[in-house]
Amino acid sequence: MFTPRTLRPSAPCIRQATSSYRSSIESVRAPFIRSKVQGGYQAGAAAQRFVSAYGYTQAKVIVYPKYGEPKDVLQLHKHSIGPPSGSQVNLRLLATPLNPADINQIQGVYPAKPTFTNILGTTEPSAVAGNEGAFEVLSTGPQVQSLKKGDWVIMKRTGQGTWRTHAQLEESQLIKVDKEGLTALQVGTVSVNPVTAYRMIKDFCDWDWMRSGEEWLIQNGANSGVGRAAIQLARVWGIKTLNVIRQRENPEETEALKKDLLDLGATAVVTEEELLSKEFRGIVKQLTKDGKEPIRLALNCVGGENAAAMAKVLAPDSHLVTYGAMSRKPVALPSGLLIFKNLVFDGFWVSRWGDKNSQAKENTIKDIFELTRAGKFKDIPVQEVKWTYDKEPKELVEAVQDTLSGFRSGKTIFVYEGDD
Ligand SMILES: NC(=O)c1ccc[n+]([C@@H]2O[C@H](COP(=O)([O-])OP(=O)(O)OC[C@H]3O[C@@H](n4cnc5c(N)ncnc54)[C@H](OP(=O)(O)O)[C@@H]3O)[C@@H](O)[C@H]2O)c1
Repeated sequence: MFTPRTLRPSAPCIRQATSSYRSSIESVRAPFIRSKVQGGYQAGAAAQRFVSAYGYTQAKVIVYPKYGEPKDVLQLHKHSIGPPSGSQVNLRLLATPLNPADINQIQGVYPAKPTFTNILGTTEPSAVAGNEGAFEVLSTGPQVQSLKKGDWVIMKRTGQGTWRTHAQLEESQLIKVDKEGLTALQVGTVSVNPVTAYRMIKDFCDWDWMRSGEEWLIQNGANSGVGRAAIQLARVWGIKTLNVIRQRENPEETEALKKDLLDLGATAVVTEEELLSKEFRGIVKQLTKDGKEPIRLALNCVGGENAAAMAKVLAPDSHLVTYGAMSRKPVALPSGLLIFKNLVFDGFWVSRWGDKNSQAKENTIKDIFELTRAGKFKDIPVQEVKWTYDKEPKELVEAVQDTLSGFRSGKTIFVYEGDD
């Protein structure tokens, strides 16, 4: 059965890798060379420092020279980064997530194409994987104004490559974060999923704030990073949520996941099976007090019949926003929903929105951090993969490949463990 609950009160410029910079690819298949001295820099054990007497840092970066399955195309590349000059900033990774879009980008099926270059000294032009993460400032060039050693930053735009132990970027490419009361996980995962949930709820529905606690949104993929963010933001803003998850292998696991989302602030949680059943209309009727509490927004990251079923329970003039396509099935809709209910079907892509609205993006992030500090925005469940300096390339690549399976207990996140 569906599980309702009472609504709670709303209440680089990477220094050009010229031939004088040593760099190498650690192929997934090739044996890892330990404690190899390269250009005077010692590389090897995790606990040691990787900065030479001349201030050059040994960096490792996950790159791909062509599109394909992660296990076939990803390589671990080693290169050195010089001291920052001008407005350059040297960074060390704290935490970076492995999001579905990162995988799609490696596969070559994502609309934002990465830049393939030799700038890091790779033998073939390669792209750096990863689109968001938290980094710590190690050192700054003489013209850097807003950042100092020890500050935390995130990248202003997606597509700059975050799966790397170190980076050298321009000050203008970074957003400084007030790290007070925040963890690296919270900072490293804020700019894609929570921002997407926040903007979709705020920008695609003209909520009647006088009816706080009497309006609904429905969403699928409710246990995803975006879904969890939407549940929590809606709760804070007095919007009820009807959440759709995929049924687990056994009823106990399904109930446990439902409870997890209810504890997060979901108003009701149903399985996809319940959504597609003929009883679903009755469930919705009961939840929405015979429709007196309208469902005014649908958030869709699945597609197919799942999306169509959500559209059917929307109130007239509502919006269904598609932001993902996890089932890879197209969204097919009965024409009557357009003719007689005047439903509006939109799409949202946070990368494009963020590029056009950089100040609004920073403000959104600040808002989410405030909620996080206030204990109103909880961490996503994660599977942490520690990235030590001597981590086998194979382990890193396997971690990426593993994210392609569904029914996971949490998002994989690389956490760098090394000095500087
Ligand atoms: N448009 C944008 O700007 C934007 C921004 C952020 C994210 N997204 C998209 O939003 C979606 C969720 O991203 P995320 O980072 O929040 O995800 P996530 O935390 O990594 O979780 C993945 C979600 O996808 C579900 N899923 C996986 N395979 C599925 C399938 N075959 N059919 C139905 N559901 C499936 C999972 O459900 P199970 O647990 O049942 O496997 C889980 O809920 C992705 O499609 C992503 O590309 C879009």
